[in-house]
Amino acid sequence: MQIKDVVAVVTGGASGLGEACVRGIVERGGRAAIFDMQVGPGGELAREMGDRAAFMEVDVTDDASVAQGMARAVERFSKINVAINCAGIGGPCKVLGSKGPMPMEFFNKRIQVNLVGTMRVVAQAAEQMANNGPNQEGERGVIITTSSVAATQGQIGQASYAASKGGINGLLLPLAKELAGYGIRVVTIAPGVLETPMFKNVPEAAREALAKSIPFPKRLGRPSEYADLAAHLIENPYLNGEIFYLTGALRLA
Ligand SMILES: NC(=O)c1ccc[n+]([C@@H]2O[C@H](COP(=O)([O-])OP(=O)(O)OC[C@H]3O[C@@H](n4cnc5c(N)ncnc54)[C@H](O)[C@@H]3O)[C@@H](O)[C@H]2O)c1
Repeated sequence: MQIKDVVAVVTGGASGLGEACVRGIVERGGRAAIFDMQVGPGGELAREMGDRAAFMEVDVTDDASVAQGMARAVERFSKINVAINCAGIGGPCKVLGSKGPMPMEFFNKRIQVNLVGTMRVVAQAAEQMANNGPNQEGERGVIITTSSVAATQGQIGQASYAASKGGINGLLLPLAKELAGYGIRVVTIAPGVLETPMFKNVPEAAREALAKSIPFPKRLGRPSEYADLAAHLIENPYLNGEIFYLTGALRLA
């Protein structure tokens, strides 16, 4: 699918990896609907991007909110043929910490936003994509989900985050196989450590130690490197049903 033909819904599009995708798509001639709860930064990004981007206040944990966002995106741009799922939250919590067992609200929140939120957006985006006419390759849509190296190499304190990302990996093949019937490809990006606001509370010394632990390049990844990979995944019609790692060869200790 050529980027100039793309109308992408980008969840988490007001910050970090999602923001980089919005910028990357608009710079390459496509259009993007920014789905996020951060009204200020989302609206500002849309204004900066001009008439090929629009902000929609969407909470991925809410059916009606996502449905309203989809309807507004279609109303504004006539169709949706790409969905990039970057809405997500992290945060550590031990299973058995000094204050007792992990509160299940903490666990459930990560599952609801990162996993169920992705599934909700995928299902509603697929419904819209199924209405598209096929392009020359027979494609009606491309869906990108975001996992993490933590899905398989989770560290202490990451049980809830790692479980949510493991769920994203598990979703991939059933989605790709089912949606193939509609000409919709589904791919997953699994980043290592990329420099985004998700890391704003990590102290400088810890960031430096993280960077040193990356074999090469010895630095955190750039959000633009995620956006460049997403653009290639959209453009290359033979990429389907696979996890693409963006890690600099990092393996979590
Ligand atoms: N940055 C990394 O190193 C890294 C590594 C592995 C995976 N990831 C994943 O990449 C994705 C993007 O992360 P990021 O680093 O850009 O983080 P970020 O914090 O910069 O951006 C996440 C965005 O998601 C939005 N969001 C959160 N909950 C939402 C909800 N309920 N509805 C709508 N929007 C919501 C936030 O407002 C924010 O704008 C996440 O799924 C994260 O787990 C990031």
